[in-house]
Amino acid sequence: MHIGVIGAGKLGATIAEWCTQSGHDVAITSRHPQRLGGLIDRIGEHAVAMPVADAAAYADAVLFAPDWSSARQAIDMAGGALAGKVVIDATNPPEATPDGMSGLETLMSWAPEAHWVKAFNTLPTAVLSRRRGHDPLLAEFVCTDLVDARLTASKLIRDLGFAPVFAGRADTARFVETGGPLQMTEIDVQDATDVLAGVLGNYI
Ligand SMILES: NC(=O)c1ccc[n+]([C@@H]2O[C@H](COP(=O)([O-])OP(=O)(O)OC[C@H]3O[C@@H](n4cnc5c(N)ncnc54)[C@H](OP(=O)(O)O)[C@@H]3O)[C@@H](O)[C@H]2O)c1
Repeated sequence: MHIGVIGAGKLGATIAEWCTQSGHDVAITSRHPQRLGGLIDRIGEHAVAMPVADAAAYADAVLFAPDWSSARQAIDMAGGALAGKVVIDATNPPEATPDGMSGLETLMSWAPEAHWVKAFNTLPTAVLSRRRGHDPLLAEFVCTDLVDARLTASKLIRDLGFAPVFAGRADTARFVETGGPLQMTEIDVQDATDVLAGVLGNYI
């Protein structure tokens, strides 16, 4: 796939590198794509840097990983290019939103034409790096309202050496985001169903 990585920071750069290692082509971007040369040199020939809107247009699927305070700006910079694209939201709002919406639902309200899915947000890169590709596989929680987004995110999660585990629709993303019971939880795939049952009960 062509993966666009919006926000080539700690998480975005790490996932971008894993994507190229798994056979994907990557366009990485930030507000300063001209400063991403060092990262491109490290990742290799299957990565290019480009402006945000170009990276979104290039992508079959987008990894959305700016800091939360820049999320609205990043969406605005992508312009209409996110429309119809699967966008994997790895961000964490600093705290639960006052209106009770999950961060994912907030992003959906800002760019309703994109096919949003939550994943890659619960654990720091150090844990992801240690667990990647090792048995037992690490559960990577996926929340979305859309089947195509769920399938695309799940494929990428598998390609990168983790086990996708569906954790509900966009409103249940608050369980995996900041302050939620599944944030910062390192769960082996075989335990994920029981953990989800305990946390979500009959919610999903
Ligand atoms: N770090 C982790 O281990 C980890 C794990 C799970 C989830 N997360 C989540 O992932 C998100 C990013 O975390 P991080 O630690 O990777 O942060 P970070 O290192 O600060 O990276 C943020 C990146 O976003 C870019 N950016 C900012 N505004 C942008 C915009 N308008 N358009 C495009 N790119 C923009 C920044 O580059 P410029 O300043 O050059 O634009 C920077 O490269 C956060 O929401 C965090 O909660 C992080």
